[in-house]
Formats: sequence, structure tokens, C-alpha cells
Amino acid sequence: MSKFIIKGGQKLNGEITVNGAKNAALKIIPAALLSEETIIIKNLPDIEDIGKSFDLLRDLGAEIKHEGHQAEICTKNVNKIELSQKLADKFRTSVMFVGPLLARFGEVKFPHPGGCVIGAGSRPIDLFLEGFTAFGATIEENSGKFYHVKAQNLKAATYFFSTISVTVTESLMMTACLIPGTSILQNCAMEPEIEALADYLNSQGAKISGAGTPVITIEGVKKLSAGEFTIIPDRIETGSFAIMAAATKSEIKINRCEPNHILSLLNIFDKIGVNYEKGKDYLIIKKTDKIKPYDIKTHEYPGFPTDLQSPYTILMTQAEGTSLINENIYDRRLLWTDMLSQMGANIIMCDPHRIVVSGPTKLYGKTLISPDIRAGIALVIAALIASGQTEIGNIYQIDRGYEKLDERLKKLGADIRREE
Ligand code: EPU
Repeated sequence: MSKFIIKGGQKLNGEITVNGAKNAALKIIPAALLSEETIIIKNLPDIEDIGKSFDLLRDLGAEIKHEGHQAEICTKNVNKIELSQKLADKFRTSVMFVGPLLARFGEVKFPHPGGCVIGAGSRPIDLFLEGFTAFGATIEENSGKFYHVKAQNLKAATYFFSTISVTVTESLMMTACLIPGTSILQNCAMEPEIEALADYLNSQGAKISGAGTPVITIEGVKKLSAGEFTIIPDRIETGSFAIMAAATKSEIKINRCEPNHILSLLNIFDKIGVNYEKGKDYLIIKKTDKIKPYDIKTHEYPGFPTDLQSPYTILMTQAEGTSLINENIYDRRLLWTDMLSQMGANIIMCDPHRIVVSGPTKLYGKTLISPDIRAGIALVIAALIASGQTEIGNIYQIDRGYEKLDERLKKLGADIRREE
């Protein structure tokens, strides 16, 4: 098991470049199944979950040339409708292959997707199944472990989301692209990755309007053509680095980002006294000595993202006063704060969705295990401010979302090394 060894207390400075968004790339790859022509994807992050997506796509019969941050995909010869248990079991977004396969072949067999530990149970897929049923598919389910989704003829439908979901919105949007007639999705998630996926599909001939708003309308087309797409900058990486700079009281420039995608965080920076300069595609976080406390409630976009809740919690351990962190999206996304308490943070858990953080507290280096991607980056930030040495194990869970984090942070002056 690889680990990071971090010696805290160094100020960071310099520039860091944001990579392509993991949560955009993970949808663009399965979307390649909607066209038999060649797809070129640029600015791909070089992270674990992308490799797993390619393995799954290759297993279905796709030809993929992947080098660095670019890939060329052709799914013309795909004729398999079953996702490999061994491969799909490894990551949650294997479920994103189901909608495109259903749209193309009318049938898919797949195991319950694997993934990290942040949601209820093993993270439900009930909304995906409900949506496919609305399009006329029937579902055979084997004890919630294996599914067979099938349709003679998929039918256009109007579907209302009872719970707002990013991946289900994207999934149904992809499926509807090839269903004749007009489908309308209501109460959709509005994340920038959804709009990016729609732009990409439209550039291949799809007819999607309203992506990025609560109502998305899709006119089905017969086929999608070849496509070329550059992945948008990762807004969660951007926000993580911005919080890292504020928490370590450092000044850094974050390049190749889209500051307008993290306005909820910048709005809070204004309130807690973190100074920054916002450019068109960069952010400079200025050195801030005094941070005020501020309560957050995680919310669907454009609200405060659940994926930045854990880094923000670290920032609040350094704020002068008490703040309430209210995690509304996932059931188990505050459990990691127990580790933060072991580092010296003053945190009271009110219930699984709410913690009270009192600051400022001095943090101390510890030996810890990263439970998931976002708690993992938060522990890295905590380690950078802590006195002494912190060891973070299971950094596979950090590599899943942040490409070569150690190398990039070293360039900012962090004392971090990877040990295999
Ligand atoms: N939900 C259901 N049933 C479903 C699907 C979702 O009950 O069939 C629930 C979830 O358990 C959760 C809520 O709906 O309580 C909302 O979750 P959502 O479906 O929106 O999450 P997601 O689409 O699975 C994406 C991102 C997450 C990010 C959330 C919220 C991807 C691949 N993942 O997940 O990213 O936290 O939206 O913004 O796009 C991460 O990158 O670390 C990450 C977890």
C-alpha cells in the first residue's frame, strides 16, 4: 500500500496547473459508445479511474490509443452487452456505461458498481433503474448484485428526478440521444460537467438543449458522428488547491482553471477574509493571516459542492471561531473527521450530517489512512499545516482523483514524498 509522508509547516508558493475534470472525463469515455466513429479526447487527467474506464471499454471490444492526456477511441467493433464483473466492480462510474450500451444495443448486463464509502449502503443505483424503466426498459435484478436491463424499443419519455443526481442526469441524457422522439428530463442536476457532456454530444450531432438548467430536452437522432473534445478544468481540484493555499497561509497562482465554476467557494472566501485575484482562467490566492469562521451546507451546483466539504473543514480548524458544517448530499462523508480530531482538531459530531468545528487549533502529525478521494486531499492539507510528520496510507484513494499530487505539491515547496 503506497503512502504519503508529509512534514508540515512549510509555506507554499509558486504556480500549479489544474488538470482536466475527472467527473467530466468519466462520462465522456462511455459516451464514446454512442457513436461508431472515432472520438478524440484531449486534456484527460492521468488518474486511476480513467485507466479503469479504458479497461472496461477495451473489454467490450473498443479500440483505444491512450497516451498521456489524450486518447483516440473507436467503438465500432463493440458487440458485447455485458460489463465484466471484475472490472466494473472496481469503480462507481462503471454504471455510466449502462445508458450508452442500452441506447446502442437495447440490452445491458452489469454488476452493482463498486466505489468509495461515502454514500448510503453500497451507493444505490435505484434512480438509474427508474429512469431506464421510464424509457420502456425492463429490469431483472439478482439480489441487488447483478442487473439485466432490456428493451425491445426504447421510447422517448418525460422523467422527473425525485432526487437530484449528477450521474443519473448524465446517464439518461446520453440514453435519450438515440431514442426517437422528444425526451424531457425535469429537476435535473446543473453541474458544469453535465453542460460539457451535452456540448460534446451536440458537436457530434445530438440535439440536447437546456443542459446546465433544471430542464433538459433531448430530440433523439439516428446516430452520432465522430467527435473531438477537450475536457473542462477540474473545479474540485481548483477549489482544493485554493483552500490548500488559504489553510497554509500561502500565496499561490492556480493556472488553467475556470473560476466561475467555483463561485460558491469564492463567495465564502469573501466572507471569511481570504483574499484572491480572479482572472479569466486563473486564480491567485493571497496570503491570509486571519480566517473568520463561516457555516456551510453542501448543496447541488451552483451551491457549495460536497466534494469541497472536507478541504473546507480543514480550513475551518484554522478559523477564529466556530462553524457548522452541514453535509446534505452523502450519509457518510463526515466520518473521516474522526481522524482530524486525532490530529488535534476540535470537532463535535452532532449527527451523521452535521459537525461543529472550533478553531483555531494546532494540528499534529499522525499516521492515518485515506478513506476516499476528498477526505484524502483534506488529510494532505491537514498534514501540510500540522507540526511534525504525517503518514497517509491508502493514497490509491487520492491518486484516483488527483494526478501526481506529490510531484505537483513539491513544486510549490511542500515537503511530501511517496513511499511504496
Ligand atoms: N442517489 C440515489 N440513487 C441513485 C443515485 C444517487 O439515491 O441511483 C443519491 C446518492 O446516494 C446521493 C444523491 O443521490 O445521496 C446525490 O448523488 P449524485 O447521484 O448526484 O452523485 P453522483 O452522481 O453519484 C457525482 C460525482 C460525485 C459528487 C456528486 C455530487 C461523478 C462521477 N461523481 O456523483 O463526485 O460528489 O455528483 O456533486 O460525477 C467525487 O468526485 O469525489 C465524487 C464523489
